[in-house]
Amino acid sequence: MADPDSTGQTVEEDPAAPTPRLRVGTRRLALGLGVLAIGAVAAVAFHSFGDASPAAAAPAAPMQFHGSGHDGGGDDAEDAAEDMVKQGRQTFRFDTFGDEPFWTNTLKLDKAIEGAANGGEGPGVSPATALAVGLKVDVTALPDTLQDAIKAGQVDLNDPATTLALLKLNAVVGVKGTFNSAGSLQAVGIECALCHSTVDNSFAPGIGHRLDGWANRDLNVGAIIGLSPNLQPVADLLHTDVPTVHKVLNAWGPGKFDAEIFLDGKAFQPNGTSAAVLIPPAFGLAGVNLHTWTGWGSVPYWNAFVAILEMHGQGNFTDARLDNAAQFPIAAENNFGHIRATKDLVSAKLPALQAYQLSLAAPKPPQGSFDPEAAARGKVLFNGKANCASCHVAPTFTEPGENLHSGSEIGIDNFQADRSPTHMYRTSPLKGLWTHQKGGFYHDGRFPDLLSVVNHYNDTFHLNLTAAEKNDLVQYLLSL
Ligand code: HEC
Ligand code: HEC
Repeated sequence: MADPDSTGQTVEEDPAAPTPRLRVGTRRLALGLGVLAIGAVAAVAFHSFGDASPAAAAPAAPMQFHGSGHDGGGDDAEDAAEDMVKQGRQTFRFDTFGDEPFWTNTLKLDKAIEGAANGGEGPGVSPATALAVGLKVDVTALPDTLQDAIKAGQVDLNDPATTLALLKLNAVVGVKGTFNSAGSLQAVGIECALCHSTVDNSFAPGIGHRLDGWANRDLNVGAIIGLSPNLQPVADLLHTDVPTVHKVLNAWGPGKFDAEIFLDGKAFQPNGTSAAVLIPPAFGLAGVNLHTWTGWGSVPYWNAFVAILEMHGQGNFTDARLDNAAQFPIAAENNFGHIRATKDLVSAKLPALQAYQLSLAAPKPPQGSFDPEAAARGKVLFNGKANCASCHVAPTFTEPGENLHSGSEIGIDNFQADRSPTHMYRTSPLKGLWTHQKGGFYHDGRFPDLLSVVNHYNDTFHLNLTAAEKNDLVQYLLSL
């Protein structure tokens, strides 16, 4: 199976080739009459890097520490840090950790994408469908001629063959297709960027430049998994039937995923709403102690957890807390807390992946997106009368140290907290809130907007905020 793809980021026009023949990395895409001519795609060369891939070949712990404090050492550390961030970005964007057997052989999503007309099953996934379920397209992976053809309306966005062409270009954010020499789809896998990147829509809605770390709140993960023609293995794992799995997946909705269902089998909250949680931002996390809504662990802990237990990548993972059969019946039954793979495609990538994630600062809100004077007043309230800063401590806006609280401390139920070994909620870092207003706030999006969050605190903590003060607090939150 082809491993991390080094051609993913370099999309150049071949100066020697007259248009409309373009070279994209090592792949050729022929544009015939402005329509993507899939049959004319010449042999697609894939490098199978195996363990020699750029990410895997990286030194496992390249951070250099110089105890002596001599000036010379600092440069080495900076270079090493820069290398790590670059490797980590490659992993975050393009690495499947060898998860293709699950998404391909087990779920057969490759067949669903292709559709019957291209050797798969069913109607196939057209670009229009892909965009409708929130998948994003990286415009820098599209050759200029293709961009022109799309603009001129000459590319059929209702044809699954076009989706296959986009996958060949490595243009679908977070989804990797592997093609054989005859040009047909052999395997699909998913990458971290699927959920934790979006695009700036600079070209068209859903098509633009990558924004790493932004939560993709358009992405309907449940609908995507629901495309699988073979959900029986998921039904078996959860001791249920396929129609029930569909019901659960349909209940997730855009921007949500349920990582815990595959550990505890709980699909719905006691009030009947889905147990899925919102995809959180993966930026602004440097200096934050515990991660995830319920504080499962550190960044490298959770990255290993996700790569192996959720994406189904190949690697080693240990967490004896999952042996607790009362809390995690599915995980205990399947020994998810003690996974040893014959080939570990995850562990060596964790150091750089962490460095990259910690390098992602929260983006600043655009000018004009909030009222600066109201925000200044809101800041005073946040630190004073409203007492928000007792938990949300600047500059991370979570607590330095143990950043966990029970549901009762913040005026909510403990259902989701009790699905974590901590039985707690993690104080959310608040920078970049403006980027993830879609889907609501708190772990399950129970508050549709920031004013509802402020109203909740006002009631829970009897803050006696006036309407104007609530607005000031909201403006401050939007300014972070
Ligand atoms: C299918 C969507 C999906 C994919 C793929 C995915 N994540 Fe996540 N990620 C989530 C969700 C949902 C959560 C919240 C989980 C929770 O709290 O239960 C999360 C949480 C996180 C967090 C914690 C953020 C915080 O606020 O502390 C980090 C870090 C993270 N993911 C990194 C990654 C990395 C790295 C990868 C690839 C190895 C990855 N994720 C793959 C959906 C995804
Ligand atoms: C006792 C500690 C505590 C106090 C005080 C507190 N928060 Fe929170 N806050 C939390 C926790 C814990 C969460 C995560 C809730 C969850 O996971 O559902 C949170 C979540 C949030 C969120 C949602 C973030 C997101 O990404 O969805 C916002 C916004 C927020 N708080 C703002 C405030 C404001 C404004 C105040 C003051 C009026 C405040 N908080 C006071 C602990 C606190």
